[in-house]
Amino acid sequence: MAPPKPTREPEIKFTQIFINNEFCDSVSGKVFPTINPCTGDKISDVQEGDKADVDKAVKAAKAAVKRGSPWRRMDASKRGKLLSKFAELLERDKDYLASLETIDNGKPYTDSVDDIHASSDVMRYYAGWADKNSGKTIPSDGDLFTFTRHEPIGVCGQIIPWNYPVMMMAWKLGPALACGNSVVLKPAEQTPLSALYCASLLKEAGFPAGVVNIVPGYGPTAGAAIAEHMQVDKVAFTGSTEVGKLVMQAAGRSNLKRVSLELGGKSPLIIFADSDIDAAVYWAHAGIMNNHGQNCCAGSRTLVEESIYDEFVEKSKQMAEFRSVGDPFEESTQQGPQVDEEQFNKILSYVEAGKVEGAKLEFGGERHGDKGYFVKPTVFSNVTNEMRIAREEIFGPVQTIIKFKDLDDAIGKANSTPYGLAAGVITKDINKAMMFAQNVDAGSVWINCYDMITPQTPFGGFKQSGQGRELGEYALKEYTEVKTVTMMIPEKNS
Ligand code: NAI
Ligand code: MG
Repeated sequence: MAPPKPTREPEIKFTQIFINNEFCDSVSGKVFPTINPCTGDKISDVQEGDKADVDKAVKAAKAAVKRGSPWRRMDASKRGKLLSKFAELLERDKDYLASLETIDNGKPYTDSVDDIHASSDVMRYYAGWADKNSGKTIPSDGDLFTFTRHEPIGVCGQIIPWNYPVMMMAWKLGPALACGNSVVLKPAEQTPLSALYCASLLKEAGFPAGVVNIVPGYGPTAGAAIAEHMQVDKVAFTGSTEVGKLVMQAAGRSNLKRVSLELGGKSPLIIFADSDIDAAVYWAHAGIMNNHGQNCCAGSRTLVEESIYDEFVEKSKQMAEFRSVGDPFEESTQQGPQVDEEQFNKILSYVEAGKVEGAKLEFGGERHGDKGYFVKPTVFSNVTNEMRIAREEIFGPVQTIIKFKDLDDAIGKANSTPYGLAAGVITKDINKAMMFAQNVDAGSVWINCYDMITPQTPFGGFKQSGQGRELGEYALKEYTEVKTVTMMIPEKNS
């Protein structure tokens, strides 16, 4: 049984590669360290998977999903029951899992617990879909009868990032397994521990061997091996737009595997002058600062109507000053360290770029404390849409506040980016809200709130923020092949 309370030093139970429901060492014998970002110290070594291990995992996944296999023959409702069971086990072990997530990723323990609940909810949601992904009967021309079968695609490679390790796994495993696929999943090298523990829960839940395989390792080796593999039928990726392009190229070069991508963003949150300013300041602050700014749909451009701009900046600065940064196991902590040194350095280099390009640093912009990868909540004013800090994904707690004149100006600025993941608007004027929602190029639009994602609501990007949708009914399509079966009938009766 997992320990009942949060613990700063959770026992590290699983550090090996998970293939065919067994934990094993890497073929090469190599390991890599996973680091606690609060201190920069090593938590543990983890077995480092690369191409040879991916090959083994794909072989297991292929056997598990082949026609006639126990998984393939399993009643769809039984697949749902296994998903429900996994959801239950996530809840049972949430204290332990959340502790593991917090030491590996750095996010506040309370946020980790929320992530585990949200992941469990996603698994339950897809448990319900398992026996409802039905085909159609179709009135085809001629003396024909046509129906469609919704079949699994086969082996799904899933490459996930480090910002929401358990949740990103749940978003990907849920629909893949509900639709009857098998999986080879690679967690991010920064945060492999929670996925490996979940591997043990998947086995405990009763998934047959080979249905889910988890291969920790690096992107250019293990990740690329998945994207290029001739026996992987689909690849789902969440991460940078840069790597998303590589994944798609690899799919094109190899076997034209299906691709779904959930990539970066530079999402605008529009604040009109008629809004309740304190509520608007709160949404804008939370929209960028949550999860330390390490959020693909972070509201990383705050666009404010000019008549309230100065007051808005002042209040945003105060909110940043009040944000509590520090020990993620303290209940009052809102922000822990960034995930690693690379991200820490990247964020601080963007702060320098902002200053050089003429933005005004209102607060933060530097390291917090003297060890680990903590960055002070940072607020820039006098930002223009052309500056690098307003164009490129910083992935840190850096709010950039930009001025706009009117609705047209707001829409123009909102859309002036290669990204299109999300957008928000705060206003009491329903016409402005709906005009904005209709005209913004974004996969999710939030009105008078921000970052509200539920298991039922589809999520994904326009433009270079990605392809396909996760969550909701729409995600089933990404994991389903449609087979059209047409039969000749001697005489059409009606
Ligand atoms: P990344 O895109 O390199 O990593 C995401 C995942 O892809 C990891 O599992 C990684 O191992 C894997 N990967 C890396 N190179 C690969 C390759 N050649 N083939 C296959 N898989 C590969 O992101 P990284 O380096 O961790 O962060 C860089 C930036 O990416 C961040 O600063 C942020 O701007 C963005 N990012 C966006 C995320 C999102 O949720 N949209 C999540 C993580 C990062
Ligand atoms: Mg990378």
